[in-house]
Amino acid sequence: DKGNHRHFMLKEIYEQPEVVAHTLGHYVDFAERRVALPEGAEIDFAGLDRLAMSACGTAFYAALVGQYWFEQLARLPVDLDIASEFRYREVPLSANGLSLFISQSGETADTLASLRYCRAHGQKIGAIVNVPTSSIAREADYILPTLAGPEIGVASTKAFTCQLTTLLALAIGAGRQRGHLSREDEEKLVQAAIEMPRHLSQALKLEDEIEGLAKELSRVKHVLYLGRGKSFPLALEGALKLKEISYIHAEGYAAGELKHGPIALIDETMPVIVVAPYDKVFDKTVSNMQEVAARGGRIILLTDEEGARSAAVDTMKTLILPSMPAAIAPIVYAVPVQLLAYHTAVFMGTDVDQPRNLAKSVTVE
Ligand code: F6R
Repeated sequence: DKGNHRHFMLKEIYEQPEVVAHTLGHYVDFAERRVALPEGAEIDFAGLDRLAMSACGTAFYAALVGQYWFEQLARLPVDLDIASEFRYREVPLSANGLSLFISQSGETADTLASLRYCRAHGQKIGAIVNVPTSSIAREADYILPTLAGPEIGVASTKAFTCQLTTLLALAIGAGRQRGHLSREDEEKLVQAAIEMPRHLSQALKLEDEIEGLAKELSRVKHVLYLGRGKSFPLALEGALKLKEISYIHAEGYAAGELKHGPIALIDETMPVIVVAPYDKVFDKTVSNMQEVAARGGRIILLTDEEGARSAAVDTMKTLILPSMPAAIAPIVYAVPVQLLAYHTAVFMGTDVDQPRNLAKSVTVE
């Protein structure tokens, strides 16, 4: 049931403050402001040398954000792979390692095959899944559920932010276990996570502004998304979401890669969407925006007040998100990225919930 929403996708976008809070509650003790891994998910991160992660599509982009969190918050090296590559790469795995698989459906063929490879090579298996009865969940040692509820729209939205929420909680817990985060650091990070639903609700209020912008996007043929650091996976996710539901060609790039090729594409016909909260790499991203502006590119900037104030560059549009600790920004910035794709697709008149050629669950390779 879509409630009073026109599509499941929009309904699911709007459910995010609630399902993110619900998922977070599964992994943290709100009163104590600490990570408390639930029964069946008590992973020993302190004893790990490395962590391997694989997934497909949007779930892979969640894993990519997870890599930044595990490295920064827990000093835990991460080997990350697209599952369809991992399964055939003949990856050497160290003894007693842990491999994490991320999947909304829990049935994705390549992800399941990667899991089986890891199991056959003596790894412990963790599964971040939205369907607890799925094949991937059944074959895991640690089941790490996302509590997003059923996701009907083919384009993943709330499952993505719940995967991110789970990864953030795990990374904070790992940081604490590995002695990289103090108890006070943990409290601060958990407090920031507790505030995510409020920021998500705030971000949803940008919908009208985004709808106006989407009307313009629906007239273009190509869109480039840029992001740096933890915003890089959001650029990839933005491009994926736009192409899969609006059929507009979009590419996501790490902002620093711009001058290594894609800058040749820049002109006034290809909007450049820049995901850039005011964080420690913000100034670097501004330099990339200036390179775009100098070549007549039209910029759509997703940032916060501080970012808007200090970005010395003309934009076609700047969307202002709430200010928040950098650790949680990838989760909140998912909302404008999803809404942009959604409204562009609505203007294009495509079948938003059932885009052509796509299946909700990819059980063949
Ligand atoms: C994109 C999308 C796909 C899935 C991918 C993995 O919106 O939905 O890219 O993320 O097919 O699916 P799961 O998470 O079920 O393994």
